[in-house]
Amino acid sequence: MARLGRITALLLLLLASCAQSELRHQLADLSPGDAGSGEKLFLQARDEAPPCASCHSIDGSQSLKAAPDLQGFAARAGSRVEGQSAQEYAFSSIVRPASYVVPGYANSMYANYDRQLADSDLADLIAYLLTL
Ligand code: HEC
Repeated sequence: MARLGRITALLLLLLASCAQSELRHQLADLSPGDAGSGEKLFLQARDEAPPCASCHSIDGSQSLKAAPDLQGFAARAGSRVEGQSAQEYAFSSIVRPASYVVPGYANSMYANYDRQLADSDLADLIAYLLTL
């Protein structure tokens, strides 16, 4: 019986730590973003987080080879992952980049934006991405 109790306690601990690794942000919580502020954020770092533009070009030049160029992103975002709208895909690309890895690239996108960006930052970035 004591052993069962210990196993239950362990399972509860495990569950608690899984819950902690869930996303901080949910798309449904975001208000409409501002693409202009999103562009600024794309170009500048926020706190310790690297700027998106340190890895992504947006002019079709693919000048930064480590990450996909985002020119035309709005047009392809809705067909990247079956069942995900362009907005949903843009959101998960930022907060959970490993959930879908663009063919031909490594899973090397910075993975802490979910923790470091505010809801409004995410909304602004998504609004900006969907203008590209
Ligand atoms: C350290 C480099 C790096 C940084 C910084 C980075 N990314 Fe990425 N990003 C990648 C890589 C590599 C991929 C391709 C692999 C993947 O899909 O995860 C990617 C994929 C993406 C995609 C999917 C593109 C497509 O064509 O489907 C989007 C959208 C994106 N990033 C947006 C952003 C935004 C917005 C930021 C800033 C908040 C950012 N990235 C910061 C490296 C980076």
